[in-house]
Amino acid sequence: MRSYFIRTFGCQMNKHDSERMAGLLEGAGFAPAKSIESADVIVFNTCCVRETADERLYGQVCSLKALKTGGRPDVIIAVGGCVGQRDGASVLKHAPHVDVVFGTHNIHELPSLLEAAERGRPAVSIVGAGESFSSDLPYVREHAWHAWVSIMVGCDNHCAYCVVPSVRGPERSRTVEEIVAEVSHLVADGVVEVTLLGQNVNSYGRDRYGEPRFAALLEAVAATGIRRIRFATSHPKDLSDETIAAMAALPALMPFLHLPVQHGSNRVLAAMNRRYTRETYFQRIAALRAAIPDIALSTDIIVGFPGETEEDFLETLDLVGRVAFDHAFTFIYSPREGTPAASLTETVPREVAQDRFDRLAALVHSLSLASNEREVGAVCECLIEGASRRDAAVLSARTPQNRLVHLPLPDGTSPDSLAGTFRQVRISAAHPWFLSGEFAE
Ligand code: 5AD
Ligand code: SF4
Repeated sequence: MRSYFIRTFGCQMNKHDSERMAGLLEGAGFAPAKSIESADVIVFNTCCVRETADERLYGQVCSLKALKTGGRPDVIIAVGGCVGQRDGASVLKHAPHVDVVFGTHNIHELPSLLEAAERGRPAVSIVGAGESFSSDLPYVREHAWHAWVSIMVGCDNHCAYCVVPSVRGPERSRTVEEIVAEVSHLVADGVVEVTLLGQNVNSYGRDRYGEPRFAALLEAVAATGIRRIRFATSHPKDLSDETIAAMAALPALMPFLHLPVQHGSNRVLAAMNRRYTRETYFQRIAALRAAIPDIALSTDIIVGFPGETEEDFLETLDLVGRVAFDHAFTFIYSPREGTPAASLTETVPREVAQDRFDRLAALVHSLSLASNEREVGAVCECLIEGASRRDAAVLSARTPQNRLVHLPLPDGTSPDSLAGTFRQVRISAAHPWFLSGEFAE
């Protein structure tokens, strides 16, 4: 049997798209390969949101040239996802040994493109955002106990720095009925946690029903009996009181929210076209904390956006300190071709941006550690995820607030037999990026 290996870059949406690619490939008779080197088909599911992911992709694709010119001339290399969508046939200019290029809207064509490439390479197919919904494709879940559930695709927001609307197209929502049917099926199949996915889940339903229906969707999904519901990503301007109330009222909704703020200065927020102010952001955080006192909050922050002054940056530091995020992802701005911000000329010098990034990272680090330290001594219900990535004798688990906990593997058990189970865990020590714990029962 021929084998495949998929390397995924980027966001959760891409991870879920990779599960669909796996579903299609297994349907076409491929089996998962043990390693990238031994695979007959290698698929790169790519991300072009930031420069670094872009560079890493081309670095990795180029390093596979040796595989082809060495002993494996028949290996097929496919590039899909956001870079495929954006670059199309010009992927072949950067990497002439690539055999297949496809985009974000035609994942379903992957098996036929592979066949075409076997007959004579290369095979390139990119289509625009149409009616076809990749959410309808079969998928192979990475974990038996967790599923990503796509509730919508695309984004209508057009933040000035962001390439997503051009590679993922406008917002298109699935129906409530379709999503509920999928989650019910997953529950029957043993899934205990779903993550609802969309670029801007808070506006779910606006394109289909004329008004956002995210809060109603949360209620309907909770009624399936699923134990844990998470979702990503939220836009602060669309986070409604109804959504906050649903999060507070529904026990399956975990007390955790990723709410990207991007910047702390109103001037920069306006230039980014985010359409909220720091004051309204604070107000959303206050509403969340009033309704869900134990909520944990994470965010995304960009430094070095064109025109950002030291004063603007200090406002970011101030906002981050005031909100006291439990976790934050930090990025240095990188211009993306075709976005409105790419033409801005008042660029921030690299070393200035790096210095601001380092100062922000130090603050985020200290806030994460302080947040984790507050948990020491607490007992909470954790979902066991399996062996930790680094050490097979250590279990990884998640608290309701999405904190990662490492636990010693009990004697005579295997990580796989415990994955997907819920256990009471006592938190014994805090580290910047994870907690240590022990079973409390
Ligand atoms: N430069 C730097 N960071 C970016 N992001 C999106 N576009 C860019 C860019 N051009 C960040 C944002 C977003 C996260 C997924 O990536 O913070 O929330
Ligand atoms: Fe990009 Fe803004 Fe849409 Fe998020 S909301 S995907 S940052 S355009």
